[in-house]
Amino acid sequence: MHHFKYCNHELYCEDVRVSDIAKETGTPVFIYSKNTALDHFKKLDQAFASVDHLICYSIKANSNLALCHAMAQAGCGADIVSGGELYRALKAGFPNDKIVYAGVGKTREEIRYALENDIFMFNVESFPEAQTINEEALALGKKARVAIRVNPDVNAHTHDYITTGKKENKFGINFHDAPEFYKNLVSMPGLDVAGIHLHIGSQILTPGPYTDSVRRGISLVQQLKAMNIPLSIINIGGGMGIIYKDEEPMDAQEFAADVIPLVKDMNCKIVMEPGRHIVGNAGILVSKVVYIKETPVKKFIIQDAAMTDLIRPCLYDAYHEIKPLVESPDRPVNHKDVVGPVCESSDFFAKDRHLQDMESGEYLAVMSAGAYGFVMSSNYNSRPRACEVLVDGNQWRIVRKRETLEDLIRGEVL
Ligand code: LLP
Repeated sequence: MHHFKYCNHELYCEDVRVSDIAKETGTPVFIYSKNTALDHFKKLDQAFASVDHLICYSIKANSNLALCHAMAQAGCGADIVSGGELYRALKAGFPNDKIVYAGVGKTREEIRYALENDIFMFNVESFPEAQTINEEALALGKKARVAIRVNPDVNAHTHDYITTGKKENKFGINFHDAPEFYKNLVSMPGLDVAGIHLHIGSQILTPGPYTDSVRRGISLVQQLKAMNIPLSIINIGGGMGIIYKDEEPMDAQEFAADVIPLVKDMNCKIVMEPGRHIVGNAGILVSKVVYIKETPVKKFIIQDAAMTDLIRPCLYDAYHEIKPLVESPDRPVNHKDVVGPVCESSDFFAKDRHLQDMESGEYLAVMSAGAYGFVMSSNYNSRPRACEVLVDGNQWRIVRKRETLEDLIRGEVL
């Protein structure tokens, strides 16, 4: 579900013709549909209406301030993983008491910063981290609300790099060690041990791994209750997959129908941390064809976006649909590679993709680039980072300027 559609063979984002934006901003440009992101949030929110819940948008997926601001205004909380993300989340207007903080390596400074801002909860991932939170909370005369991230040892059946809930992953506390771990933490006076956190990976397409993980989590909550450690929060994490090609991911209703029966009698607040589900299909990356190049064995479209703008194909071999901004049904369609200008053979967006012939100066859209797109971009090859645009109905505006050459050397000295 998204608001990118062709009308008279021209691609639109909501009510704006995408090529009108690209001509004005130049390329590469990320274009986000505000209403796609909001619709995803609202559907999930409604699907969980029957239980006490809090949706914390995982801002690592797309932390653009304007987009985050729109999410915050809609009533969403934020899931963060660094002091930098906390800074952004607060600037974007997320209420401090709707911010949850995960991550295996929170530094003492980051922990203090989060405590000073009275965030809702820390998701604790190790004993030394718990000790640091305890010390810092006591120093500030506060009690830090924490959930313990438990590693349920469930296979999420997704790419290895984004699997987090197997026992060999660095995340969370080993499931069997968890009761002892809880016992140790409740004795720390600076901590309010209130919840359990589960997150088994990203781009998960079937409910099975989720329900397995939630079931394991619940069995632990029951065991803890019997040990006189009652919990009031179950954070089921993020990870809901989206359509990149021909996947059939769960929609919000199905997801809720699978999860709610498991948690509804637990008397706990349900926290969720979706990222990709909210913004993945709410963004595209628009590029301009620089050259067409043919070798004896290949045809290449060389365009001005690169792995530095969207690293997912290079890093995970991820599939992203590629569409011309103007469809020309009369042109030949054949196999081509869509590549960028960076000096690496891994700088590609598509290989042997069936695409209409294109000419230099024409535009392409890399679809489903709203999540883990701009946020993972870099300045490799001294490429200024792209600009970002937010569309709302028939209005659009630049929400992050394209970087300049001066930006590239900011902070450096001769
Ligand atoms: N909560 C925690 C603790 C996480 O680590 C993540 C993602 C999320 C929530 C949000 O997951 P989502 O709903 O977006 O799947 N760069 C990779 C994805 C990395 C995900 C990292 N953690 C990609 O481009 O596929």
